[in-house]
Amino acid sequence: LKKLYKRHAREGRPVKQAAVLGAGIMGGGIAYTSALRGTPVRMKDIAQPQLDLGMAEAGKQLAKQVKNGRLAQAKADAIQASIVPQLDEAGFDTVDCVVEAVVENLEVKRKVLAALECRVKPGTVIASNTSSLRIDDIAQPLARPEDFVGMHFFNPVPVMQLVEVIQGAKTRDAAVSTAVGYAVAMGKTPIVVKDCPGFLVNRILTPYINAFVQLVADGADFEAVDRAMEAFGWPMGPAYLQDVVGMDVGAHVGDVIAAGYPQRMPALERNAVKLMVANKRYGQKNGAGFYRYENDPTGRPR
Ligand code: 3HC
Repeated sequence: LKKLYKRHAREGRPVKQAAVLGAGIMGGGIAYTSALRGTPVRMKDIAQPQLDLGMAEAGKQLAKQVKNGRLAQAKADAIQASIVPQLDEAGFDTVDCVVEAVVENLEVKRKVLAALECRVKPGTVIASNTSSLRIDDIAQPLARPEDFVGMHFFNPVPVMQLVEVIQGAKTRDAAVSTAVGYAVAMGKTPIVVKDCPGFLVNRILTPYINAFVQLVADGADFEAVDRAMEAFGWPMGPAYLQDVVGMDVGAHVGDVIAAGYPQRMPALERNAVKLMVANKRYGQKNGAGFYRYENDPTGRPR
């Protein structure tokens, strides 16, 4: 991998300044990780409260690093200052890469990215943190699809090593190399994958989650399944994982996969994840999913 990353580093554009669209769990996590690893980042959202939350979360993570003796306070302050929260695209004409992490909805992403394209210089790499939508589908309204690439991070971003870099049919090789280089600079392990619904990880993860959903429909106790899968060796069981990922995101990934592979992974009829979404139990992000998180918003339920 080191050799491969060196080649990408030669062929890509160094990301000295970056931007992220969206200050939610994913966008905020990407911005924080970028800054922590030395790449200053502009974090744009359409809502001030969301920006405040993103900045507060970064502050919390940095305070933990200081407390654990991994960072000096002055360094932590400098990192926090290198995340610029903003409601507009000021300064986007000077960044080398923008990662879009807005809501997982094809039309919204297309609209946001088409508008973004007018605010950055040609050659600036635009990356979508889509979970499962095809890059070529998202790229449809773009004037410069050659600069557009997928960069799929996993939740929680500061901890999860893997990043899927997705090359669309029109993505130029140098844009892929830039995305790979940026992921490496963030301390991640990027892999380049082909453009298809669900890419690599969600094509593997979805059958597992579907099997869990079917078990629940058959009457299984979700907590017992979690305990069993954790004893088996997974870091978190499927119910808790869905709470962390977000029920709405999980349901959407399931839909994209079912539409993409109707024979292999058909839509499920009695689907606990969809039932959760209908009941607005989105998981950790709003305090209730399979488990409840009122007393500890990100704590592991016991
Ligand atoms: N943000 C930042 N850091 C976090 C964190 C968070 N939300 N959650 C945990 N951490 C850090 C902790 O601070 C700790 O760091 P330290 O060792 O430096 O102190 C480290 O992670 C381990 O945390 P814990 O000891 O508290 O807990 P665990 O050992 O249970 O690990 C976990 C937590 C790393 C999240 C682990 O449970 C895990 O790997 N879970 C699986 C997560 C996963 O599969 N994510 C992918 C979901 S799929 C997805 O996102 C794609 C989408 O398209 C659907």
